[in-house]
Amino acid sequence: MRAAWLTDIHLDFLSRHACDEFFATIASHNPDAVFLTGDISVAPLLLTHLEAMGQALSQPIYFVLGNHDFYHGSMTAVRTAVRECAHAHPLLTYLPEAGVVPLTPSTALVGHDGWGDSRYGNYATSPVKLNDHVLIKELTGLTPHELQHHLMRLGDESASYLRETLPLAFNRYRHVILLTHVPPFRESCWYQGHVSNDEWLPFFACQAVGAVLRETMEARPQCQLTVYCGHTHNSGTAHVLPNLTVFTGAAEYGTPQVNGVIDVE
Ligand SMILES: [Fe+2]
Ligand SMILES: [Fe+2]
Repeated sequence: MRAAWLTDIHLDFLSRHACDEFFATIASHNPDAVFLTGDISVAPLLLTHLEAMGQALSQPIYFVLGNHDFYHGSMTAVRTAVRECAHAHPLLTYLPEAGVVPLTPSTALVGHDGWGDSRYGNYATSPVKLNDHVLIKELTGLTPHELQHHLMRLGDESASYLRETLPLAFNRYRHVILLTHVPPFRESCWYQGHVSNDEWLPFFACQAVGAVLRETMEARPQCQLTVYCGHTHNSGTAHVLPNLTVFTGAAEYGTPQVNGVIDVE
């Protein structure tokens, strides 16, 4: 089967007509499925954009959410609304709700949002201030210490889901594809051809997820994990272990693209 991979498409930057043109571009690749690794839109427009995509395409759309998908909203409310929307739409699958999704006899799909969990780089001295901390309800008005606690908790939430779900997938499949928004390793956090520096890493990589992936794959040398992520808007490939590869996708606001068409064996 063939899957079109898209990341950070930020549809809120496009007119309805431009969205339709982009959906037609996706369809022109003739994929069997669409993999979408977050930053689809912003909270007030997210359901409209997901439903429009589900109506324009005839393939299953497997997705996770990125930080922008919660902008101008609350994480709890957005996740609840997305869950309900995906349950009502046969082509939309929000992966954190789906567990292990079979793709082929040897490959399964899993996914969770991930979050910049402040553990890589140097959170204490970083001058970086993200819109996340102004535009997402749960992250506003916090002291630096409270914010760090919250970021860690979000990373831990994704990590604990994957600690439970990945072994279930590998019990039945030799190869697993993981979709997540935030790069899980320092070396997968690309910015202009290099790894992001210690000021940006706290917000652009998820150490808690990385630790679970490393531990899971070191214990299973005969299995393969392929990760697709985005968030940095800069592309790169990181071979973290012989059986663990991470693809990070490029993106540009207002010009969404198909990051790749993946042949799944
Ligand atoms: Fe993005
Ligand atoms: Fe992002």
